[in-house]
Amino acid sequence: MVDNTSQNTSDALNVAVTGAAGQIAYSLLFRLAAGEISPGRKVNLRLIEIEPAKRAAEGVTMELKDAAFPLLGDVTVHTDAREGFQDADVVFLVGAKPRQKGQERADLLAANGAIFGPQGEALGEVAPNARVLVVGNPANTNAAILAAHAKGIAPNRITAMMRLDHNRALSQAADRLDVPVSALSGMVVWGNHSASQFPDATALRAAGEPVFEKLGTEWISEEFIPRVAKRGAEIIEVRGHSSAASAASAAIDHMRDWLLGTEGDEWVSVALPSDGSYGVPEGLVFGFPCRSVNGEWEIVQGLELGEEQKQRIARTQQELEEELAAVREAGFID
Ligand code: NAD
Ligand code: LMR
Repeated sequence: MVDNTSQNTSDALNVAVTGAAGQIAYSLLFRLAAGEISPGRKVNLRLIEIEPAKRAAEGVTMELKDAAFPLLGDVTVHTDAREGFQDADVVFLVGAKPRQKGQERADLLAANGAIFGPQGEALGEVAPNARVLVVGNPANTNAAILAAHAKGIAPNRITAMMRLDHNRALSQAADRLDVPVSALSGMVVWGNHSASQFPDATALRAAGEPVFEKLGTEWISEEFIPRVAKRGAEIIEVRGHSSAASAASAAIDHMRDWLLGTEGDEWVSVALPSDGSYGVPEGLVFGFPCRSVNGEWEIVQGLELGEEQKQRIARTQQELEEELAAVREAGFID
């Protein structure tokens, strides 16, 4: 269900995308223009880039026009984020450096952390009702920086992307069980979008039937969890660049479900500022099982967690606490 509380009074959906000339945006923008998060609704695109990449973003605009998407409205290019965010209903914060081979995502904090404070302030001022997805890495802590600066934006409107991890986990489990991904429900990826994440198949079902035993505890701990958690690095190793089309696809899945609702009782993985659920301290942007109800993310409550799950959740929580302490130390958050 699309909400009608946005500041945008036209029927069109205003979508702002930073990093618009980058590799993720090169897939994301075309899927947005095709109406994938807003079927039947006109889409205005605001492409935000830094000055050196402005001309390349103009080239992307030319291609968007050349594709003659029936739902595409205005496309504009901005180097001033505040101008690009004006009246945005939906914001994808993709603009940030990707990591290189051998780096961890947290190694990007010094370079990318500085981007998200000013963008948070700008969003709070010109688009307080926007739904925001942080994709740029390290996504969770960048989103925590953003949330600390985005006065006036409800905490559950600021999210970081766990959906790529969620989709990767579904795909690995579907292959193991030899079932289509569409048969699976109950997956969750807890914590940080990093190697410490906890892809949790404990509640996984295939066509409604529990499959944890069938997957096997050895396969889960020796293959599934490390494979999903380190998939980003594996893609960089094999493709030579970090994931792009699959990241864009996950961003589309995240925003479509947010706007239109998740299916029935099913949940997906979303990182958002903790409200204390499952004992996770407030202020950490943490991957939780979430449902989208009436256009808002709600953390699924009441999942019973065993000792091993609690330990794995504590591990990823600790890493996020360390990242948050580091960005405080660096002055990105007061
Ligand atoms: P890219 O280098 O191809 O593109 C990034 C773009 O951002 C560049 O065009 C750059 O000019 C622009 N940019 C930099 N600073 C900006 C700013 N302040 N405002 C606006 N634009 C700015 O990188 P990419 O492959 O598109 O990846 C982008 C980010 O997404 C990286 O940090 C990457 O690690 C991350 N990523 C996250 C996930 C996830 O699941 N959360 C998945 C894949 C990639
Ligand atoms: C991913 O998971 O593919 C992205 O976060 C890119 C990366 O650095 O791993």
